[in-house]
Amino acid sequence: MPDQRTARVTVVTGGASGIGRATVLRFLAEGDQVVFGDLNEANAQALLDEVADPARLRFVPTDVTDEADVAALVGDAVDGFGRIDVMFNNAGIGGAFGPLVETEAADWDRTFAVIGRGVFLGTKHAARAMIAHGGGGVIVNNASVAGVGGGGGLTAYSAAKAAVINFTANAAVELAAHRIRINAVCPGLVNTPLVMGRDAAAIEAQLATFQPWPDLGRPEDIAGVVAFLAGPDSVFLTGTHVLADGGMVAWGPRMTGTSDPRGRTRQYVGFTEGTTGRRPTRRPVHDI
Ligand SMILES: NC(=O)c1ccc[n+]([C@@H]2O[C@H](COP(=O)([O-])OP(=O)(O)OC[C@H]3O[C@@H](n4cnc5c(N)ncnc54)[C@H](O)[C@@H]3O)[C@@H](O)[C@H]2O)c1
Repeated sequence: MPDQRTARVTVVTGGASGIGRATVLRFLAEGDQVVFGDLNEANAQALLDEVADPARLRFVPTDVTDEADVAALVGDAVDGFGRIDVMFNNAGIGGAFGPLVETEAADWDRTFAVIGRGVFLGTKHAARAMIAHGGGGVIVNNASVAGVGGGGGLTAYSAAKAAVINFTANAAVELAAHRIRINAVCPGLVNTPLVMGRDAAAIEAQLATFQPWPDLGRPEDIAGVVAFLAGPDSVFLTGTHVLADGGMVAWGPRMTGTSDPRGRTRQYVGFTEGTTGRRPTRRPVHDI
């Protein structure tokens, strides 16, 4: 049982499901005192029942788009545990989808409210509490690979996640003087109710077209990255974002087809001379 005066105090938004839930459990395993907020009170209650440790896990019903709610969530950590050391701004939704020429402005705004405004409010109120306490702190924002690229169809989500990455960089500059670090994690495809809820089998079947790494991401994999960003080993990281995506972004335009077992770069090794007039060399690849 950790000493409650020295145990770290962490706050997680969207902690009742998926990546947030896995991070709550990870922080508890590290000995933290945790407060989580969520809109889904039934899922929150299930987590409280599972952990059954009210001295170390508290829940505050929270809508991250509502400033009073976010202030109350951070206030609960300060009142209940004395301060806040770590804030994980994680709550998210898919939001507006479909062709952008058909997208309703209200749906665009709501997507940005949850993803953009929610991260801003979480950062604002956590940083205020950290500055008032004077001991510094760490903020981690959950962005997405969608924030570093495109794809269409989820334009509002992608643009809002890009805003989270840029916000993180700007906030890091302002908050450094207070010894508050702030970074973002950019998950790729992760097995959570948010993405797997509708057609898990189809997503599993298409996995090889999404990323080169053979396994689908798990919520625990992202919680591990958040734990690193929240912990002492990342003490010199601030204002940056970490891709945790099974190589999805590294794959990029897939110009060489290295992940296709029938692709030419898997069958031959050699050297191409471009348009020099010299002949390329190549030999078949031996099985290893
Ligand atoms: N699963 C993925 O593949 C993936 C990939 C990249 C980024 N992300 C991001 O990770 C974060 C968590 O997603 P997840 O996959 O764990 O989804 P999830 O649906 O399993 O969990 C999200 C949680 O956020 C809560 N939430 C939603 N809107 C809220 C609001 N306004 N106020 C408070 N709580 C709210 C939900 O109730 C839910 O409990 C999101 O920001 C998401 O965009 C997920």
